[in-house]
Amino acid sequence: MAEKDKMKIKITKNGPYIVTGGVPLYEQKLITDEAGHTRELQDIRQFPPQENYTLCRCGQSKKKPYCDGTHTAAGFDGTENASKKTYMEKADIFEGPELKLTDVYEFCDHSRFCLRAGGIRENIKKSNDPEARQTAIEEAMVCPSGRLVLWDKKTGQAFEKEYEPSIVLIHDPQKSCEGPIWVRGGVNIESADGTVYEIRNRVTLCRCGKSENKPYCDGSHWMNAKQKLKFRKKWGLDEKKEE
Ligand code: FES
Repeated sequence: MAEKDKMKIKITKNGPYIVTGGVPLYEQKLITDEAGHTRELQDIRQFPPQENYTLCRCGQSKKKPYCDGTHTAAGFDGTENASKKTYMEKADIFEGPELKLTDVYEFCDHSRFCLRAGGIRENIKKSNDPEARQTAIEEAMVCPSGRLVLWDKKTGQAFEKEYEPSIVLIHDPQKSCEGPIWVRGGVNIESADGTVYEIRNRVTLCRCGKSENKPYCDGSHWMNAKQKLKFRKKWGLDEKKEE
């Protein structure tokens, strides 16, 4: 069995993520530019390698990022309510002259990389302009949640970075909080009920315990209901769902 195939994240019922198979664990922070737009992720540290470890999912452990059992006393409700349909089954499609964007808003972790230079959809509309095209590619490829995938219309290929199978704990200094668990490079994620989620190059899992789309992050680590509604309006989504 290949090393990658041994790696797994098992979600436990109302409990932590059990990580097995020696998945490397890093911490990175979101870096913003002078205009306040998030631009990249920068390394903070790599944790000592461990074959197996248990990551907090309720957000209340005193030994973060690891679980200390607090979820039991806290009565954590970790019900997984995310749909198990595939990304492509759920995707909205936006096309420009040279690029096609697939977009699944419910995956969004609100790291905000796609808002720069008028936003990714505007840049796709102008994707026959080299600068707009390059901006759109950068914005999609850096999206940790995998909400956004950009495709070259000529070749049919997605713009994807090749990641070492690994986990990154995201820190968000601009919002003064911890962000999600970024799972990179196609690590298996198994539900508490034993079914498996679609294996993807990029997904973000909730570690604050507040997401309404568990196990995925939905931005609740920094957004309140009003801010969520504002973003739904911005992206032209059904506002009633959020009310
Ligand atoms: S970590 Fe983002 S919603 Fe929990």
